[in-house]
Amino acid sequence: ALDGPKQRMKVFVTRRLPPEGQKLLSKSDLDVQQWDSDDVIPKEELLKGIEGADGLLCLLTDTIDKEVVDAAGPKLKVISTLSVGFDHLALDEIKQRGIKVGSMQHLSTDVTAELAVTLLLTTCRRVPEAMEEVRNGGWKTWSPMWLCGYGLSDSTVGVMGLGRIGLGIAQRLKPFGVKRFLYTGIPPCLKSVEELKAELVSTEKLAEESDFVLVSCPLTPETAGLCNKDFFQRMKKTAVFINTSRGPVVNQEDLYQALVTGQIAAAGLDVTTPEPIPTDHPLLTLKNCVILPHIGSATHGARNAMSVLAVNNLLKGLAGEVMPGGIEL
Ligand code: DGY
Repeated sequence: ALDGPKQRMKVFVTRRLPPEGQKLLSKSDLDVQQWDSDDVIPKEELLKGIEGADGLLCLLTDTIDKEVVDAAGPKLKVISTLSVGFDHLALDEIKQRGIKVGSMQHLSTDVTAELAVTLLLTTCRRVPEAMEEVRNGGWKTWSPMWLCGYGLSDSTVGVMGLGRIGLGIAQRLKPFGVKRFLYTGIPPCLKSVEELKAELVSTEKLAEESDFVLVSCPLTPETAGLCNKDFFQRMKKTAVFINTSRGPVVNQEDLYQALVTGQIAAAGLDVTTPEPIPTDHPLLTLKNCVILPHIGSATHGARNAMSVLAVNNLLKGLAGEVMPGGIEL
């Protein structure tokens, strides 16, 4: 029989995308089905929507587990995620089915490192607390020890997980007069590590000797819960803890105890467990805890560029070509 018109490939997109990615997607000849909303797609809608799809474009808020890939069926060839992290993807299931995965690679490195520095300075100089004092009439006079925090000059900074983002954080902090950099993890560039004179140390030593600890490692079975009671007990009482990676790297109850008992000075988190953190969570009652709503890569430029890369990963992957942000499984 003669072939009818060629069937367009179906892709399912789990959210409304930033404008540039959305524009690129609309120009493609794919059959695009989309959860056209700024809210997270409910699981049952995802299971329905992905049925028979050749490609999936998802977000870090979508858990892509066995149930989802099973619901997709055998045609699913490509998963493109609008994130650097891919801890929300069941990689073993995905690999078994020969599905290719694309993520963001370097695209959000600079903005996320910038946000980590922002959060560090905000936390160690107690900015939200100070602003609150101005509003609530707590500002009575200039007072020698009022709202004193900790500065970066001559300090030791420990970066847990010195990958691309961790290196970006250290490079940005160097001009603040940091004396010593400690790190764990596998650096992307040894020359840059030498320039920083950064020292590779154990997690324990990093906790013990750092004035500022910044977590920027991926979430894996090895890093889950790594910042726990033992870790915080090793930290200096004057030290400040910052997490911009993934919430589950931190045991939040242990962190709460460390902050309440003065085991550490303060914490700044851009990521929590769960997200969003419930508004009645005990951490939100603490003045020495600054929490942001996972905005590491939230600039117009980065999010648009990320969406373009996510769509390109999808298009290239479906065309059987090399994905610009393809990851090794
Ligand atoms: C990521 O890309 O994984 C971040 O957490 C969000 O930008």
